[in-house]
Amino acid sequence: MLKQLEALRIQAFEELSRIDDPEELDLWRVRYLGKKSGLTRILRSLATLPLDERRKIGAQANKIKKALESDLTEKERYLQETFLTLSLEQKRLDVTLPGRPIPTGRLHPITQTLEEICDIFKNMGFQVFEGPDVEWDYYNFEALNIPQYHPARDMFATLWLDSWVDRKARLLRTHTSPMQIRIMEHKRPPIRAIVPGRCYRYEATDATHESMFYQVEGLAVDKNITFADLKGTLFDFCHHLFGEETKVRLRCDYFPFVEPGAEVAIQCLACRGSGCRLCAYTGWIEILGAGMVHPDVLKHVDIDPEVYSGFAFGLGVERIPMLRYGIEDIRLFYSNDLRFLKQF
Ligand code: DAH
Repeated sequence: MLKQLEALRIQAFEELSRIDDPEELDLWRVRYLGKKSGLTRILRSLATLPLDERRKIGAQANKIKKALESDLTEKERYLQETFLTLSLEQKRLDVTLPGRPIPTGRLHPITQTLEEICDIFKNMGFQVFEGPDVEWDYYNFEALNIPQYHPARDMFATLWLDSWVDRKARLLRTHTSPMQIRIMEHKRPPIRAIVPGRCYRYEATDATHESMFYQVEGLAVDKNITFADLKGTLFDFCHHLFGEETKVRLRCDYFPFVEPGAEVAIQCLACRGSGCRLCAYTGWIEILGAGMVHPDVLKHVDIDPEVYSGFAFGLGVERIPMLRYGIEDIRLFYSNDLRFLKQF
């Protein structure tokens, strides 16, 4: 029986050494350590043996059982490890590979500028209004003191949707000023309004002209509004937008819907006033038209010019980022070249 045990042990070890997958190992376990294995049978039969043989064989059989068991656990661990490294090898994941960038959107530089302008006026107590791009002749011209055949209509190369002879003609608004009328039709003073919006002109485009562009209109109507209020508001605005140290200048100008009318210019940001190509060697850059609301305009909306007065202004938007970032062609804003737009 000792010989039998010895043979069993040799055979078991030999087989075990050839095993290289967990299923085979399990079969091996059943074969050599299971209930029906030779070893178990020997252990069971111990009781039938004489005492000294029982001791000898029992001791040996238990030793072999322990040895087989420990070999089994070792082999199990070994197989587990090789399996793990194998699967890690095969399903390798390179955690050092940089991720794909998620493309993020951004606001258009003109939208950013509009928001900035509106924020400055909102902080001064102005309210934001928006109006239609398709406008009536009445609002764009007539009510703004520009009747039919008035020479000032030539200031605005108009894109007409109906025949311009028709008094009810529609057009693409040439400025945001028609919103002055729309606002005053619906609101009584005190009024503090700004209107960002698109405007259109029938013009050949070049580096400084687009047929579609943005303006921000401003309107303040109340008792006792004076030219000093206009000046204070617009100087303050320019200082907020371009910096406290920027010089601002007012000069006479003509617009049919204001009296007196003015142009607001800032000292050229590029040359600081000494004269360069950007400011046409004048040292100044015009950024706003403004003035005291014409009494006839107030009369059009039934506001008594003897009681109320107001100021209005219109600001070209594209010019501001062009000045700030040295952009030399206005058409870049609307040609949708992401290489350009991504810079802002
Ligand atoms: N609407 C004028 C334009 O487009 C700009 C302007 C000038 C607006 C004077 C005003 C103003 O409100 O008072 O050229």
